[in-house]
Amino acid sequence: MLLRGGGVYRQALLSLLLATFLASVAAKTGPTHNKVVVCYISTWAVYRPGQGAYSIENFDANLCTHAVYAFAGLDITQASIKSLDPWQDLQEEYGKGGYERLTSLKSSHPHLKVSLAIGGWNEGSKNYSRLVANAQQREHFVKQVSGFVRKYNFDGLDLDWEYPTQRGGSPQDRENFVALTKALREEFDNYGLLLSSAIGAAKNVIDQAYDVRQISRYLDYLHIMCYDYHGSWDKKIGYNAPLTAPADDPLSVQFTIDYLLKLGAPPSKLVLGLPFYGRTFKTAAEGKVNDASDGIGFRGPFTREDGFLGYNEICDILSNKTSGWTTNWDAETSQMVARSERNVFTQDVNVVSFDSSRSIANKVKFAMMKRLAGVMVWSVDTDDFLGRCEVDEDTYADFKYVKNAPRRLNQNYPLLRTINEATTLALEELAADEAVVPDDSENEIPHGKNVATSLISVSLMLSSVCVLLHSLTH
Ligand SMILES: *[C@@H]1O[C@H](CO)[C@@H](O)[C@H](O)[C@H]1NC(C)=O
Ligand SMILES: *[C@@H]1O[C@H](CO)[C@@H](O)[C@H](O)[C@H]1NC(C)=O
Repeated sequence: MLLRGGGVYRQALLSLLLATFLASVAAKTGPTHNKVVVCYISTWAVYRPGQGAYSIENFDANLCTHAVYAFAGLDITQASIKSLDPWQDLQEEYGKGGYERLTSLKSSHPHLKVSLAIGGWNEGSKNYSRLVANAQQREHFVKQVSGFVRKYNFDGLDLDWEYPTQRGGSPQDRENFVALTKALREEFDNYGLLLSSAIGAAKNVIDQAYDVRQISRYLDYLHIMCYDYHGSWDKKIGYNAPLTAPADDPLSVQFTIDYLLKLGAPPSKLVLGLPFYGRTFKTAAEGKVNDASDGIGFRGPFTREDGFLGYNEICDILSNKTSGWTTNWDAETSQMVARSERNVFTQDVNVVSFDSSRSIANKVKFAMMKRLAGVMVWSVDTDDFLGRCEVDEDTYADFKYVKNAPRRLNQNYPLLRTINEATTLALEELAADEAVVPDDSENEIPHGKNVATSLISVSLMLSSVCVLLHSLTH
């Protein structure tokens, strides 16, 4: 009735409706489940040689809900965030503009949130400790960082101080870190910005560094770094990121998550960190877990860091049938251990403990069972992002209702694809298990539920468009 006034209005309204409809369909980018997949990019990976080099253009925004650009640094003399690599990060002076190349992905992928991370291992702890100890410096930092992230179109900030109270920090860091997150939250709320933090996984770090209940009030997400439980520094072979450990051993993913929940972290803010890398060892012994090893480990051709091997480097070695490497799956810890033949010259055996696709799938299921917000990965640049390796066939061996792995259109990013598949499959498994509780008769259909609901919403949308069109043309 209202619309009777002539063809121009009608046409304008029609195209508006059509545009709205198309936009709502086009907006469905990214993962189809409703959990978070936080993807850290170690942006110095661009300097790796050959097929190990990773640039922003290799990032696949469809596989992540959140991207985190790692790392920016702290200029303590100015109490300011700063670029650690202006040529890569910024556009000024013919720079490569990495910040904006990443944040501009949001226009083609409206689901994507992009944060800037400050800190990381190499930044140490002392300067952060000094910054937070002074209320005026804190205030200055909060305002400056807020302007900085907005200037480059980031959606938020990720704090990667490793760690408050540790590595030259002071005991006061614990409460000063709360004050920092509180001040950032108040500032960020003016602009709808996200605030998250990477959180250490070791019990002693958690005890000393974090007032878990307080920081949980101010952070949107806690990214728990559930890895580096063991490495060459132990001087014996161990699991990088064991899902479980014997009862008296706090060095496991399960212990860390249960402990944080016990300390009052809300599951809806906890994000389980998954390593896309392994820890390496060199040993004169057989190469079994707990065998004595040297303190350094071996390095890979791309990442070139003693004691560390990217998943892409590991799967390269393992897909080489003449390399002589063998693998052992450990069901207790959900960890894979690979070892080389003994080197005839050095008499050493090289060993790497790492997360295979099956490890990743099992940990995703663990995160879903604990009703966490989702998972985080360190880091996407060491997934097999080019799809050079064969895809594992045992990924869902520990899933109850999965007979065949879901078909993939692409072979690249096997671990990230596993995360997204496993999230949906684990949620379905949980729903199905709840559905078989005897006296709970009115259950939803567990399988294909997502497809069904999205079909229903699309058809609802279509029919409302039809109704409107009908009222317009009659
Ligand atoms: C801490 O700040 C000082 C003074 O700016 C700087 O020289 C030093 O490199 C910083 N520390 C780290 C680990 O970056
Ligand atoms: C496979 O491993 C063998 C033995 O270590 C090595 O000589 C060869 O170069 C490797 N092939 C590739 C394609 O890396």
